[in-house]
Amino acid sequence: MNSKTYVVTGANSGLGWGSALLLAQMGANVVMLCRNRQRGEVALAEIRQRSGNPNVELILADLASQASIRRFVETFESRHDKLHGLLNCAGIATFHRRVTPDGLEVKFATEYLGHFLLTNLLVDALRAGAPSRVVTVSGEDHRGVTIDFDDLQGERSWNVVRHGKQVVLAKILFTYELARRLEGTGVSANTLCPGLTRTNLARHMPWYVRLYAAVRFALAHPQTPEEGASHNTNRSTLSAILFHFSINFSGEFLTPTEQARLYQLLLTGLMAVAVTLIWGPQTLTRRRESREGNLVTGRAER
Ligand SMILES: NC(=O)c1ccc[n+]([C@@H]2O[C@H](COP(=O)([O-])OP(=O)(O)OC[C@H]3O[C@@H](n4cnc5c(N)ncnc54)[C@H](OP(=O)(O)O)[C@@H]3O)[C@@H](O)[C@H]2O)c1
Repeated sequence: MNSKTYVVTGANSGLGWGSALLLAQMGANVVMLCRNRQRGEVALAEIRQRSGNPNVELILADLASQASIRRFVETFESRHDKLHGLLNCAGIATFHRRVTPDGLEVKFATEYLGHFLLTNLLVDALRAGAPSRVVTVSGEDHRGVTIDFDDLQGERSWNVVRHGKQVVLAKILFTYELARRLEGTGVSANTLCPGLTRTNLARHMPWYVRLYAAVRFALAHPQTPEEGASHNTNRSTLSAILFHFSINFSGEFLTPTEQARLYQLLLTGLMAVAVTLIWGPQTLTRRRESREGNLVTGRAER
């Protein structure tokens, strides 16, 4: 690993942080892409200290800004001529629709467009470093949704759950197409759901969503970010794709084991029953009425 270079996005928190630490511990050169200097420097110091690896560096970039991504790639290319792995880990969970300075919805811009642009700008470095790998963290939330090409950014009607699912699906479809285009180049592209992991993802959410997450985490014993990054026989993980599959393993979507998923489904069901019992059946009725209202509004606007 000593001569291998990896870029990890969102490397100051959660799965990105766990992956950057794992790679540093394995002796790789790690480039941490973080958007906030202070948070990035704290994480950089901790990863260097815990891994004993001095070849970990920080390059600032805001994935929600296309100009910032281009500056990141210029800086990277001025320091490195090869890239062996790109881990697209950064993500954001917001409840209300927010728009970036580029005029794009923030989750779509960060997780999908930002990683799309970053990956494409780094393709030459990845080809130069072949065999090399692109790993994009997605999720399993895409089930039951299709891409609404007429309203990619929730401008006509905003539904936080539906939009989140659409962004996850976009990342999975991006990986499939990237793998197809890179076939035969020695660059693989895969995507995965990391499984339930205790991270900071819910920090921009309203208090009741954070409360729900806290209860769910207390019951489900989620993995830590370090466990999420390291190899664990029960789950599909970043390192499973990075280290345990051949370079010909490409265009795949990996999920946690069926067992883990069934457990999560059971838990979500129990939580729904508990919420209904605590707040009463009228909560469900109100929610159904408001959902029907939204549907009517959505249709009218189209
Ligand atoms: N945790 C889970 O159980 C779980 C399950 C399934 C899928 N996932 C997916 O895993 C991915 C990683 O999430 P996580 O759980 O590790 O969350 P996290 O702890 O909140 O980490 C997210 C990272 O992304 C960074 N980030 C956000 N917006 C950015 C931007 N515009 N530019 C650059 N970096 C940005 C954050 O930086 P700041 O600290 O500066 O905000 C942070 O470092 C997400 O896509 C999430 O949907 C997570």
